[in-house]
Amino acid sequence: MNLTINIYYTGKNGSAREFAKEMISTGIVDQIRKEKGNIRYEYFFPENDPETVLLIDCWENQEALDLHHKSSMMEQIAKLRNKYNLKMRVEQYTSFLKDNHDFETVIRERTATRKFKDKKVESEKLNKILEAGRLAPTAKNLQPQKIYVANSKEALDKIDKVSPCRYGALTVLIVCSDTSIAWTKDNYSTYEMDACIVATHMMLEATNVGVDNIWIEMFDKNEVKKLFGLEDHIEPICLIPLGYRSDDYKGNPLHNMRKELSETVTYV
Ligand SMILES: Cc1cc2nc3c(=O)[nH]c(=O)nc-3n(C[C@H](O)[C@H](O)[C@H](O)COP(=O)(O)O)c2cc1C
Repeated sequence: MNLTINIYYTGKNGSAREFAKEMISTGIVDQIRKEKGNIRYEYFFPENDPETVLLIDCWENQEALDLHHKSSMMEQIAKLRNKYNLKMRVEQYTSFLKDNHDFETVIRERTATRKFKDKKVESEKLNKILEAGRLAPTAKNLQPQKIYVANSKEALDKIDKVSPCRYGALTVLIVCSDTSIAWTKDNYSTYEMDACIVATHMMLEATNVGVDNIWIEMFDKNEVKKLFGLEDHIEPICLIPLGYRSDDYKGNPLHNMRKELSETVTYV
């Protein structure tokens, strides 16, 4: 388990961006990245707010974070913040990833989340998740997937009408497949299989960028079609609520109950 800190710096007339530029040009960003116990240090410019810069840093444990707070550069950062007259909002949460580039860790740490915090998924992360779906393999590369992002209040209200399983997430992907595009032979089509692969890619990338998620089958597909006005050839396959697990979420009790390989694998 490690610690992730989101710091939102907000100013006026582009001052937050100037601050970020100076953090880079003075080498502070590089210094933090090299600090002991630092796993990740990134900065983003949220698309919907040109006056805010989001810094995300991730630490191996509390000790590493304490060391960082005591380091001499903290004074420099505080001076810069005052220079640009920025307001600062800090969010801290525990994350279960050890290294966001370690594929095996992602595979092991992905787990169903059934209680989300009241916190939106940043658009940068959402784009990465959607991009991972774009890169998924599909039969004959026909890419029949159609992904609908429900994150407005109106759309989330509709989700609540079709499923009891939003679990408080403020973003839900409605993963659908276009049966008129998918590879078809005789009476067989890969439309569902293709969409499942896309959904799996997106879930794993979500975990990779520290966004918790769950696959939901329990929803009324006809109601989704009706409420979101989908054409007949667009088939809903699954919902993927995305967000950040609530601090008091105890985890999925089934997660560790995996069968032995010998029960599911046969060498022939
Ligand atoms: C095809 C599929 C359908 C699922 N449907 C639901 C669902 O409707 N509601 C729910 O709470 N969890 C649902 N889940 C989550 C599973 O219960 C969960 O993935 C499983 O217990 C394994 O645990 P883990 O994901 O934590 O490893 C679904 C998962 C899959 C793969």
